[in-house]
Amino acid sequence: MSVPDRGMWSSRLGFVLAAAGSAVGLGNIWGFPTQVGRGGGAAFVVVYLLCVFLVCAPILIAELAIGRRGKKDPAGSFDAIKPGTSWRFVGLLGILAGVGILSFYSVIAGWTIAYIYFTVTGAVAGSPDAIGQFFGDFVANPVLVIGLTFVVLAVTAGIILGGVRGGIERMTKILMPGLLLLLVALMLRALTLPGAETGLAYYLRPDASKLYDIQVINAALGQAFFSLSLGMGAMITYGSYLGPRESVVRAAAWVVVLDTAVALMAGFIIFPAGFTIPGFDPSTSGPGLIFTVLPRLFSTMPGGELFGGAFFVMLTMAAITSTISLLEVPTSYLIDSRGWTRKRAVLTLAGLTFVLSIPSALGNGAVPFFSSLPGVGMDFLSLMAVIWNNFALPVGGFFIALFVAWAWKPANAIAELQTGGTFPGAAFWAFLIRWVCPVAIGIIIIFTVRDLLR
Ligand code: TRP
Repeated sequence: MSVPDRGMWSSRLGFVLAAAGSAVGLGNIWGFPTQVGRGGGAAFVVVYLLCVFLVCAPILIAELAIGRRGKKDPAGSFDAIKPGTSWRFVGLLGILAGVGILSFYSVIAGWTIAYIYFTVTGAVAGSPDAIGQFFGDFVANPVLVIGLTFVVLAVTAGIILGGVRGGIERMTKILMPGLLLLLVALMLRALTLPGAETGLAYYLRPDASKLYDIQVINAALGQAFFSLSLGMGAMITYGSYLGPRESVVRAAAWVVVLDTAVALMAGFIIFPAGFTIPGFDPSTSGPGLIFTVLPRLFSTMPGGELFGGAFFVMLTMAAITSTISLLEVPTSYLIDSRGWTRKRAVLTLAGLTFVLSIPSALGNGAVPFFSSLPGVGMDFLSLMAVIWNNFALPVGGFFIALFVAWAWKPANAIAELQTGGTFPGAAFWAFLIRWVCPVAIGIIIIFTVRDLLR
């Protein structure tokens, strides 16, 4: 079914699936282990879990409530609830974030497409060094990487244009159980490798000094927002398609549990398997971490080519259900609040995103300037991830919490949420959204900026 008529989800399950499809993606399987590696292991995991349950889960509920009441794109929904106020700018920030995130996300999604082919054909195999070299050569190939990024954006645009929302629901219904099954199998394999304990200790035994490292805390907060698709109004948009009879809070709980489970499982695969590779150092692996550890793991398994191929197919599908939500937010804004046609909105946004994706695509060895930005000390893709994940999303979440807490008022949000089902713990949620979310995010952002300026 298409969306211009502001369609409803076909069922409650349909909504949970679409929201879970948005949340579960590269953020869980590529982003989470990469960030754990950068952040020094288990300490990052602890801070991440605190961020998910104390800060992000309440904001997820808040976004869904805003969307279901406002019935519009993020900017329009703020305006519908508090007409004529500046709150709509929070929605606008989210719309920019959608394009910004999609611009680097589609590059990584392009890599996963290529790895379907590389694993099935056995092109990437052999010694850990050979696998690492293979990755380095591949991502430095400008034509291939830009072409694959284009494919990702074209497929995403095509799906949003065609309005195959029913198709997405059906795809996610197969995708989620399939992905979980493959992850469990990989986890069993990784955990039974000789030497798996080293990785397990790294993943589960926190280095207490890192718990107070502001860079680790900021990265964990950003990762939690990114993984749950929060802070830019994606869940406002999805909530706006919710009917009045749905139990929003139950659905939100499902999304949080599923998303967190997938991320944690990815860690239980990457670290035990990674540390069996001589000289493995997750703190310097960067965006290539999963693309070097996983092919190695597949090569230890009977039928590893097929298994690995299936895995990268699932990962690509999970990425596409996420890119759809990233593009749908700015699209719904241009349609709802600016009166554009869906076609014009989708084509313009996809074109813009493609142009913006080029420096990210070229920043992994193809063009030295983008691969190590002078004065910044990182590549363009990593810089984009920091700007949007670590700053834009938490700032968006900060204002979403303030909006619900002090402008719309928690009592009104709770009333909205209770029309479709009970809301156990509503008072606790109100406390979190009033105090814990804004204060925690505010402090983290202030200290991060202070740290950067030093
Ligand atoms: N959550 C997705 C992932 O983990 C990425 C994503 C999709 C996203 N939609 C979003 C992130 C909206 C932030 C906001 O892969």
